[in-house]
Formats: sequence, C-alpha cells, structure tokens
Amino acid sequence: MSAAKDTLLSVDRLTVRFDASPPLLKRLLTGVGRRTVHAVEEVDFEVARGSTFALVGESGCGKSTIARTIAGIQPPTGGSVSFMGVDIAGFRTRHAAMPYRRNLQMIFQDPYASLNPRWRVGRIVAEPILTHALMNPGAALKARVAELLETVGLSPADARKYPHQFSGGQRQRISIARALASNPAFIVCDEPTSALDVSVQAQILNLMKKLQRELGLTYLLISHNLAVVAHMAEAMGVMYLGRLVEQGDAAQIIARPLHPYTRALLDTVPDPRAPNRARARLSGEVPSPLAPPSGCAFHPRCPLANERCAFERPRPVRVDAVEVACHAVEEGRLPALPRANELASTGDAA
Ligand SMILES: Nc1ncnc2c1ncn2[C@@H]1O[C@H](COP(=O)(O)OP(=O)(O)OP(=O)(O)O)[C@@H](O)[C@H]1O
Ligand SMILES: [Mg+2]
Repeated sequence: MSAAKDTLLSVDRLTVRFDASPPLLKRLLTGVGRRTVHAVEEVDFEVARGSTFALVGESGCGKSTIARTIAGIQPPTGGSVSFMGVDIAGFRTRHAAMPYRRNLQMIFQDPYASLNPRWRVGRIVAEPILTHALMNPGAALKARVAELLETVGLSPADARKYPHQFSGGQRQRISIARALASNPAFIVCDEPTSALDVSVQAQILNLMKKLQRELGLTYLLISHNLAVVAHMAEAMGVMYLGRLVEQGDAAQIIARPLHPYTRALLDTVPDPRAPNRARARLSGEVPSPLAPPSGCAFHPRCPLANERCAFERPRPVRVDAVEVACHAVEEGRLPALPRANELASTGDAA
C-alpha cells in the first residue's frame, strides 16, 4: 500500500487454479467439459518487515493455497510473489530458490503430521541448517540446536527424544525451533494453534510474539480465530471464494468492518459484552469454487446486493486505513454499524 514502509513480501494479482476435470474418457462419454477450481483469484497484498499480516475467511476460500504458493510449494497460475524484491515464482530450479527458501519458513497446523516420527528432535531441528549448508555436523551444530530448543522453551536434552514423546504444544515448539533454525526473515504460519487447547494456544502465540520482537520476524498468519488475529496482527485480509474482499489495518477492520461479508464473519464471534444480541447470520451455502458467481462473488448471500453487484466485479476503494471491494460501500449505501451495547437490548435468545 504505502510505498514508504519496508515491504518484505509483495503479492501481486496472484491467481491459482486447479484442474479438477474428470479423466478424458469419462469426459467424452458423459459430455462433461473441463472443470477448474478457482482457488485464488487476483489477490494483491503486501507485508511490512517485522509485522504480522493475517488471512481470514471460511474453509475453502484459498488461505492455505496462498500460503503454499508463497512458500514455493505450489506454483501460481498467474501473478507474482515478490520476496525481498525477487519474484520467487520465477525460480526454475531448486538451487536458484535456495537463498530465498532459507529466509522463508513455514509452520503448519498439525505438528503430528509435519514432524518426521522416526527422527530424533535434534535431527529435525538441525535439518534446515544442513540443507542450507549453514553449518557442518559437529559440536557447534549440537550447541546451535540446544540453543534453538531453549529459545522455544524446551530443554537441550529434548534433542535426543522422538516427536511422540511430546504434547501437542511442545511439538509445535519443535516446529517453531525447526522454522527458526535457518535464521529466516519470514515465517508462514498456517493455523499454527488451531489444533491446540486454548491455554496452550495462548502460550504458543505469546512465544511467537516474543520471537517476533527479539528476532525482527515477519509473519503471515492464517487463522479462523478472529481473537487470535486481533491479538497478533497489525494488518489483515479477509478472503471470500479466492478473493480478498477487505484488507488493511487489523484494528480498524475488527472495530469497524465495512464489507458485508467481514461484518457477517465478525458477527459469528461471541461478544462477551452482549451475549444475546441479534446476529446477522450468513445465509446460504458457500458457492463452489468450480463456478464462482458473476460480479461480486458474495452477491448471492449479501443482504445489500443489487443488480450491479450481480454482474460487475467491485474494485477496491480506500476507507481510512482499509481497502474494501464492495459496491454498497462505494455507493454510500452501507448501513451504519450498530454498536454492540446498542444491540444488547434487542437480542434474540440464541
Ligand atoms: N491440489 C488441489 N487440487 C484441487 N483442488 C484443490 C487443491 N488444493 C486446494 N484445492 C481447492 O482449492 C480451494 C481452496 O483450498 P484451500 O486449502 O486453500 O482453502 P483454505 O482457505 O485453506 O481452507 P481451510 O480453512 O479449510 O484450511 C478449495 O476449494 C480446495 O478444495
Ligand atoms: Mg487451509
């Protein structure tokens, strides 16, 4: 957005589509054509160095696909991902991408699946160091692994254990130690705490914040938990069916959401100040990414949709520190947001 800040990651018109066609013979016999999943469509955002950018949205809206594309696991169909000023999607060989991969690590939701069960923790944590040839095996590497384990609140003796000997929260600490091992600038965190108990979640999030402060890390955080986003992120993007519908300052979006989808999404979060208030529930199903609706993809579910919304795709407009793609905002016909305390008396008993 603003050119003045130090941008570490810049995603420009990123598009990712998957071919979900039935096999050729079946297509010929049934007359069914090719089918394309529109997982990510023309997504633009930037992440400032040292900050956290959060992506939120319902299941299947394309969050993990964006994460995997940024991490270089999933090639984009179109657009670019520029990291430290270099387009990472343009790398043709693993070798060419190595210096950037060292700076860009990923933490996944499921610390069971992402840690090799047959490797001792010491080897798991040392692996990125060896892959990137940052150190040779030996005493210095052992000391570095011990230091990394202490950094994430584990003990150097844990290096000799296997992943199954740890709790879920401890396992996520091992994942973080491994992610930190190559001294990255950027960590993509895909639902890093959603598999954990609430009390453990808070410990892991606080550890991530502490590491961000001390090491100057930049995070892309994917979470369906808006309380987590409010706690962690300076900026956020709200996705619907592969597109960003609203993005910018996280505090502004959470306090004063503009897009009708963001409002509905925030309304699903219980407000302790007004537990019985009426909620603008999301009606209807999420449309299939095989056939996204025309115009604004949210229009079939939107209480404010008019004819224009059905055929014309809204362009992002800026409102203070936020960009929102919505005709109702653009045309000034967005109803004022009722404040929670005003609504408290009108609530249903849900
Ligand atoms: N390899 C693939 N082949 C075909 N379709 C895919 C593939 N990967 C993802 N998709 C589809 O792309 C869409 C976006 O998926 P994605 O995993 O990015 O969603 P998400 O927002 O991370 O969802 P969740 O919150 O459930 O993790 C979904 O419709 C999904 O089925
Ligand atoms: Mg996902």
